[in-house]
Amino acid sequence: PSLEKDFLPLYYGWFLSKKSSENLRKTGQAFLDELGSLKVFKKESKYFLPAEDPKVKLDLTSYFAKRPPGVLHCTTKFTDFGKAMGADEYAQQEVVKASYGKAFTLTISALFLTTKTAGARVELSEQELLLWPGDVDKILPTDNLPKGSRAHVTLGCASGIEPVQTGIDLLEFVKLEKAGNKGDEIEEVGGGKLQYFGNGMWMLLLSKKIEVKAIFSGYYG
Ligand code: 2AM
Repeated sequence: PSLEKDFLPLYYGWFLSKKSSENLRKTGQAFLDELGSLKVFKKESKYFLPAEDPKVKLDLTSYFAKRPPGVLHCTTKFTDFGKAMGADEYAQQEVVKASYGKAFTLTISALFLTTKTAGARVELSEQELLLWPGDVDKILPTDNLPKGSRAHVTLGCASGIEPVQTGIDLLEFVKLEKAGNKGDEIEEVGGGKLQYFGNGMWMLLLSKKIEVKAIFSGYYG
């Protein structure tokens, strides 16, 4: 028997290829630019402006100034070097070991934005869902949402917000959808249908879903 213990990464996930990463960043930027210029958005921009000074000009690019360095990724399991709950169980799964270093195609179905985060929603295939942990698709212990509901790529965070928030924000959208709230269908914009859920929560359903190439792996920091 080996004396060595597996050293677990900070997190497991799909890491986009350089090209897919650059393309998705561009698409996200175009979404911010277009949304920021829309009358319907400006009318609701108070959620993004300081209460003391609601007249300042809103620039979404500088608002979401905390952008992930390097290539973009979709986290599957945050293992925190083995300290997170369920970390060992996740890492020991055959499918996780067998998929490590393998290439996948992820499907991006929507872009979303809240007062805290901007992200891309990922639609996982049956095969990709096998790598999705069973315990991450909830905010409250009582939440019962479809597996993979949280799957996303963080594009940017507002000042003072940690990236873990993007998945929580996406779950909020999914909970609203589940409650029958389809969001106000605002209008057809460049890339698809723009929905508004109130409180500064916007989602663009892409008319043409984006496929990105990604490698399943671990990030050690
Ligand atoms: P993200 O997947 O939404 O971008 C390193 O911090 C990475 O792990 C980030 O990409 C981050 O969020 C994700 N992360 C950090 N803490 C997390 C947690 N408690 N649960 C799930 N993902 C987390």
